[in-house]
Amino acid sequence: MKIFIDSANIDEIREVAGWGILDGCTTNPSLVSKTGRPFRDCIADILGIVDGPVSVEAVSTDAPGMVKEGEDWARLDPDKVTVKVPMCIEGLKAIKSLSGKGIKTNCTLVFSQTQALLAARAGATFISPFVGRLDDISHQGMDLVSDIVDLIESYDMEAEVIAASIRHPLHVVESARIGAHIATIPYKVLVQMTRHPLTDIGIERFQADYNKIPKPR
Ligand code: E4P
Repeated sequence: MKIFIDSANIDEIREVAGWGILDGCTTNPSLVSKTGRPFRDCIADILGIVDGPVSVEAVSTDAPGMVKEGEDWARLDPDKVTVKVPMCIEGLKAIKSLSGKGIKTNCTLVFSQTQALLAARAGATFISPFVGRLDDISHQGMDLVSDIVDLIESYDMEAEVIAASIRHPLHVVESARIGAHIATIPYKVLVQMTRHPLTDIGIERFQADYNKIPKPR
């Protein structure tokens, strides 16, 4: 399973890119707004750091507007820019048009298998079911990801499924177990994934024992 960071914070993205495990990045207007920076500056910086697809959300409400935004973003970096398009009828039209122009798309805010099927048929590069937001309303978010992965794979469709709205490390483990192609993970959860108390104790003990070894004069 590939690992994307779900963030627009340059410090977080730069740090995780330095770990050598980063395959891409997803952003959304809420994440960009938290940075307090202009949208374009933020995305340009992310494109300079991440070696992989970077999702940038289109905010128009009609297909021509989404396509225009997508084309503008794609000019920044045609290989990396992935236009994030919300799941709706106008979004489907935009995905079809952008994919016809060779521009990558990520169909976002997916909450059902029917939505995923339509997004895949429209030519979405990525499909993002939101796990945490379903869990929040007492639905099993991960069951949806699993069903969508099965659907995509049984028909050999090309879209990759991104487990999105990840809230904790177990969401990541479960995403990998059910065969999600990608998980997009917030910085805090990525850090949690590195930690284990026995690792900390082990490092401390090895350091202490190393210091007891007589050093050559
Ligand atoms: C994914 O692309 C979205 O940006 C993100 O995962 C949404 O997560 P949230 O539900 O925690 O806002």
